[in-house]
Amino acid sequence: LETPINICFIGAGYVGGTSSAVMAYKCPENMVKVTVCDISHEKINAWNSDKLPIYEPGLEDIVKKQRGKNLFFTTDLNSSIDASDIIFISVGTPTKKKGFGAGQAADLKYVECAARKIAQISKNSKIIVEKSTVPCRTAEHIRTILDSNKLSHKQTLSPKNHSKNNNNISNSINKSNNFNYYYYNSELNIKNEDFNVNNFNINYHNDNINNINNNDDYNNSMDSSSISNNDSTLTDIDSCSESNTFYQGQEQELNKSIFDDLLEIKLKKNRNIENEKSSCHFEILSNPEFLSEGTAINDLLYPDRVLIGGLQTKEGIKAQNLLYQLYSYWIPKEKIITMSLWSSELSKLAANALLAQRISSINALSALCEEVGADIQEVSYACGLDTRIGSKFLNASIGFGGSCFKKDILNLVYLCNVFKLPEVADYWMQVIKMNEYRKTKFIKNILNRLFNTLSGKSITVFGFSFKKNTKDTRESAAITIVMALLQENAIIKIYDPKVTKEQIYYDIKENSDPQEFNENISNTIICDSAYDAAHKSDAIIICTEWDEFTTLNYQNIYNNMNKPAFIFDGRLILNHNKLKKIGFIVEAIGKKI
Ligand code: NAD
Ligand code: UDX
Repeated sequence: LETPINICFIGAGYVGGTSSAVMAYKCPENMVKVTVCDISHEKINAWNSDKLPIYEPGLEDIVKKQRGKNLFFTTDLNSSIDASDIIFISVGTPTKKKGFGAGQAADLKYVECAARKIAQISKNSKIIVEKSTVPCRTAEHIRTILDSNKLSHKQTLSPKNHSKNNNNISNSINKSNNFNYYYYNSELNIKNEDFNVNNFNINYHNDNINNINNNDDYNNSMDSSSISNNDSTLTDIDSCSESNTFYQGQEQELNKSIFDDLLEIKLKKNRNIENEKSSCHFEILSNPEFLSEGTAINDLLYPDRVLIGGLQTKEGIKAQNLLYQLYSYWIPKEKIITMSLWSSELSKLAANALLAQRISSINALSALCEEVGADIQEVSYACGLDTRIGSKFLNASIGFGGSCFKKDILNLVYLCNVFKLPEVADYWMQVIKMNEYRKTKFIKNILNRLFNTLSGKSITVFGFSFKKNTKDTRESAAITIVMALLQENAIIKIYDPKVTKEQIYYDIKENSDPQEFNENISNTIICDSAYDAAHKSDAIIICTEWDEFTTLNYQNIYNNMNKPAFIFDGRLILNHNKLKKIGFIVEAIGKKI
C-alpha cells in the first residue's frame, strides 16, 4: 500500500488551520501527510511563521511540532489538489450580502470556487469532504460541478458523441453555475426533475436511507466474496455494529481493508492521465466541524462526536469507512457516527440553532429578572440542576456572537422559508431577534444609568472579542455596544488582551457610515492595559469574560475613575457586592443590585 495518504485542506482559517493541525498531530507522520492551502498569501505566511494568524490555546505547540514533518501550509493549490487523496473543503460560508436570499442564505461562492478548482485540477479519483457548514444538499451541487468536469473531459475524448453530449455539458454547467440554484428554483416551483442532471445516482424525491435496500450498488457491496479481511495498521472496527452507529449491513463493508479505496486511487495515478480524468470518481462526504473557538484544540482532540455523512452506495460507504478509519487514530469509535449526507449537513445547522436557542432563552428570562428582582444566575442554576435541562450554555450575557450562530440560524430560517415552512422559520428567527433585544436592553440600561447623556463622557470597554480565549471579533456583541455608544458621542477606551488595534479599527470602520468614520475613529482609544483604559473614565462595561478581568485591582481602578463610577457587567463575572463596597454603582445583566 502506497503511503503517505495525502490530505489537502482548502481554506486555512479557524477550522482548516486547527483541524488540519490536530489531524497531522494525531495520525502517524509516515502514514498521513496534511497540506493546508489558502488563496491568502498573508495567512499562509503567518501559518509558516512564529506568529500564527489565529490564537487558540495549545495550537502553537502542535503546529510547531508537526510543521515541516507531516503538516504543510501553502498557497500552491494546484499541486496540493493534484497530489491529494482526500480533500477537506474548509472555506468560509458567510451570509449572502446581496441578491436572492440576501441577509439570510449562505453565500456558497467560496465552496463553489474550491469545487471548480478541484474539478479543474484533479486527474485521479478523490474523496471530497465538506468541512464547512453548508445548507442541506450542498453535496449535490459539489457533485454536479465535479461531474461536469468529468463529462467535459469525456467529451473531448469521444468526438463521436459530440453533439449529443454537448447539451448535457451546457445543461450541467448552467445548473451548477449558481450554488443556490436549487433553493431559488424551489421558491419558483420549478419541477424537481430538472435537477436530475449528470447521472446523479440519488433519487431526488426520496430519502436515501429508505432506499438502501433497493440500491443495487449497496446490495452488491453485501456480497461476501467482495469482502477482504486484510490486516491493516489501523485499528479494527468490530465494535461498529454494537454502537449502532451504522446502517444495517454497513459494518460488513467496513471490515474491508481500510485503504482499499486509496489503493485503487493510487494505482489509477499510474495509468494514462487523460483517460483517467474522464473516469475519475469523486465521492462527497459531509463531515461538519463542531469546534468552539477558544477551546478548539481540546474540542478537536476530544470531540463529543464526529459526523460522517455519505450516500449509501457502495462507493459512498467505502469513503465513509476511510474517513472513519482516519478519525479512529484518536477518537473512540463509538463517537464517530455515520449517517446520510443530508442528515449530516442538517445536524450541523440544527446543533448551532439549539445551542443559540438556549442562550436566547436564558437571555429572555434575564430581561424579566431585571424587572421582577429575581437573579438570573440563581434561576439558571436552579433550572440547570434538572438533568433533563443540564447546566451548559445557560449563562446569561449581552448576547451571543461569533461567526457561526447568527449565520447558521439565518441559513436555517432561509431553508424553512424556501420549503414553505413560515412557522418554523419564525420560530428560529425569534432566537436572533431575542439576541438583538438583549443587546439593546443592555445599551438602554447604560444610557439610563448615565443620566441619558454620554456626550463627552469617557466609557471603558473591557473585552472586544466575541468570547474569551480568542481574538476573533466576528459578530461580537462588543461591536454593537461600542457603535451605539459612539452614536451618543461618548469617548470610548477599549482594552482586549488579544484583539489587535488594527482589528478594532477595522470593525469600527466596517460598522460606521462613511461620513461618521473619521469621527468614530478619533473618539476611540485602544489601550494596552485594563488600568490605562479605566483611567479617568466614567464607566466600565464588561463585554468579554476574559479571566484577567476578574483579578484586577478594582480599588485602584475606582480611585482613578471619575465619580460616580459605574460598572456594567455584561458577562456576570465580577463580585458585585465587593465592587459595591468599594463605591462602584454596579449594574449587571439579569439582576437588580
Ligand atoms: P475563515 O474565514 O476563518 O477561513 C476561511 C479561509 O478560506 C480563509 O482563509 C479564506 O482565504 C480561504 N478561502 C476562501 N476561498 C478559498 C479558495 N477558493 N481556495 C483556498 N482558500 C480559500 O472561516 P472559518 O471560521 O474557518 O470557517 C470555515 C467554515 O467552517 C465555515 O463554513 C464555518 O461556518 C464553519 N465553522 C466554523 C467554526 C468556527 O468556530 N469558526 C466552527 C465550526 C464550523
Ligand atoms: C459555536 C458552537 O458552540 C460550535 O459547536 C460551532 O462549531 C461553532 O459555533 P463558537 O461560536 O466558537 O462555537 O463559541 P460558543 O462557545 O458557542 O459561544 C458563542 C457565543 O455564545 C459567544 O459569544 C459566547 O460568549 C456566547 N455564550 C455561550 C453565551 O452568551 N452564554 C453561554 O452560556 C454560552
